[in-house]
Amino acid sequence: MTELFEPLTVRGTTIPNRVWMSPMCTYSAVSDGSDVAAPNDFHLAHYAARAAGGVGLAMVEATGVLPEGRISPYDLGVWADSQIPAHRRLANAIANAGAVPGIQLAHAGRKASMERPWLGGGPVAADAGGWPVVGPSAIAFPGYPEPAAMTVADIEGVVAAWANAARRAQEAGYEVVEIHAAHGYLLHSFLSPLSNNRTDNYGGSLENRARIVLEVLDAVRSVWPEDKPMFLRISTTDWVAEYVDDGREAWELEDSIVLSRWAREHGADLIDASSGALVPAKIPHREDYQTRNAALLRAASGTLVAAVGRIADPAVAQELLANGSADAVFIGRALLRDASWANNAASALGARGRFIPQYDYAV
Ligand SMILES: Cc1cc2nc3c(=O)[nH]c(=O)nc-3n(C[C@H](O)[C@H](O)[C@H](O)COP(=O)(O)O)c2cc1C
Repeated sequence: MTELFEPLTVRGTTIPNRVWMSPMCTYSAVSDGSDVAAPNDFHLAHYAARAAGGVGLAMVEATGVLPEGRISPYDLGVWADSQIPAHRRLANAIANAGAVPGIQLAHAGRKASMERPWLGGGPVAADAGGWPVVGPSAIAFPGYPEPAAMTVADIEGVVAAWANAARRAQEAGYEVVEIHAAHGYLLHSFLSPLSNNRTDNYGGSLENRARIVLEVLDAVRSVWPEDKPMFLRISTTDWVAEYVDDGREAWELEDSIVLSRWAREHGADLIDASSGALVPAKIPHREDYQTRNAALLRAASGTLVAAVGRIADPAVAQELLANGSADAVFIGRALLRDASWANNAASALGARGRFIPQYDYAV
């Protein structure tokens, strides 16, 4: 049996295999005009090609729940009903190519308003379409502008924005919603004491730092259908054992295990186990740098876990499933190189790929 190509049913959704397209920003939406931040022809071709290439689930890239929550002015958004029809086309294109359409809902927090990476990245100036950034505390990502510390009303507004975005994602036809709480973006920046020094109910203890994440899960669950899966992407560690400046702890695997248990109680079905990007840090060079944490998290938390990071060899992906490290794998850059990575992996492993009928009868 090739576990990698076995279906997985989560709530009422059956995902045809365990090779999933990781959310990856393409910074390809238009930044002004009536179709601002809406999926366009580029997105249709990009996601449909990978869906037709055999992935079981295609997770659409980080999509802003608010305009100021975009990483760049060219990110997708789902903060307005006018954006729903374009998302419906994208979700349909993915589903028509046989994959389950998912969408990652995101707010970039203090790492928002950045230039596209191939133009060098870095903050976008206000006169070039940039905007002021927000975060739990007025602590900047090193080298970036200082965020405004959010008020409780701001937090309530963001939580509501997540629910409204999920409602629109549902109307657009996405089957899976993923909450982005990784990579130093808004929710992760609340979780980690390195970026959160609040003294109210949203800072201090682990319970307080996790509060906004659980509120977002509750808010999204309240509008997201009971029979549809909700995933949570987290950074399992900041890769900073101890913050040398003032002795504050960083976000660690042990915190992620506790959060994963809480997340399940708040309706999350799967933890997507990424890592890092809250602060510049030394990340181990090992191939299993991140999948190792997925395995530890899965063993300790008892939740469904997807592994991600440097998975490019089909045999390695299959072994992660076979040895119980993960329930599925998210593939990122290997799918940028090869849209048919999933079907090619199936061939390499002697398993059956998932070809669309237009190809299946002919290959
Ligand atoms: C171009 C690019 C864009 C990315 N955008 C996102 C994103 O929108 N949301 C997210 O959670 N991770 C994002 N990531 C991280 C990937 O989803 C993935 O976790 C990471 O690339 C490691 O997997 P890989 O080694 O298979 O590429 C991005 C990565 C790349 C290379």
